[in-house]
Amino acid sequence: MLDIHCHIVPYTDDGAVDINTSLEMARNAERLGYNGIFATSHYIIHDNEIENNSFVNNIKKLNEMFEIENINVKIYEGNEVFFTNDIVELIKEKKVCTLANSRYVLIELPLFNSIIPMNVYEEFNKLQDAGFVPILAHPERYDFVTKNFKSLVNLIESGVLLQSNIGSITGKYGKDAKKNVEKMLKNNMVHFFGTDSHNNTVYDVYDKAIKKIKKAINDEDIYEKIMYENPQRVLEDKEINVWYPKI
Ligand SMILES: [Fe+2]
Repeated sequence: MLDIHCHIVPYTDDGAVDINTSLEMARNAERLGYNGIFATSHYIIHDNEIENNSFVNNIKKLNEMFEIENINVKIYEGNEVFFTNDIVELIKEKKVCTLANSRYVLIELPLFNSIIPMNVYEEFNKLQDAGFVPILAHPERYDFVTKNFKSLVNLIESGVLLQSNIGSITGKYGKDAKKNVEKMLKNNMVHFFGTDSHNNTVYDVYDKAIKKIKKAINDEDIYEKIMYENPQRVLEDKEINVWYPKI
């Protein structure tokens, strides 16, 4: 199993504060059945612009350390790119990483905008024209989704894939995010689940969350696709067949 959203690389963003935290996160992930993690450190233009060479090098060092420590989890490069106008250019300039060098790019939008940023469709179209597939991080957490749930249907119909956070269903991000993810699951609108862990707290609610997710999906095939097949297809840079919302 692969975790598609995780801030495990230390000293890079607001994720793991030190190597020991990274090791503990990886041990927790392994215990829960993960054998791979996409390291999706925040890339925020003009704010947290990660230096790509040292980022990739740190991932290499983490993988070496996991081997020494007997942790059977492999880290793959990635970024959680904060929405900006220049994502295609940033990828081409090798400033941001797609997920394991695939066509898939994890993108987050501002949490508190009450309407979807106006140029989202234009920018996502540019990405798609350049051969990339945007994956929207934790849509259930955005105010514009709470205010206008239909905007997610429009995004899926325009070819955007949706990644929810495992902790959302237990209320980790508040009542609105919980309600939104329940509605998304009910209407077949989640394509991936990630832990979005910045430390070890999410692993404590993991089992409880997974039970709720299984119950909400209520379809073993779809559960398998979300949890196993889709992230694997990202890793292998294969096309993902999107199912359309029931609403
Ligand atoms: Fe994140």
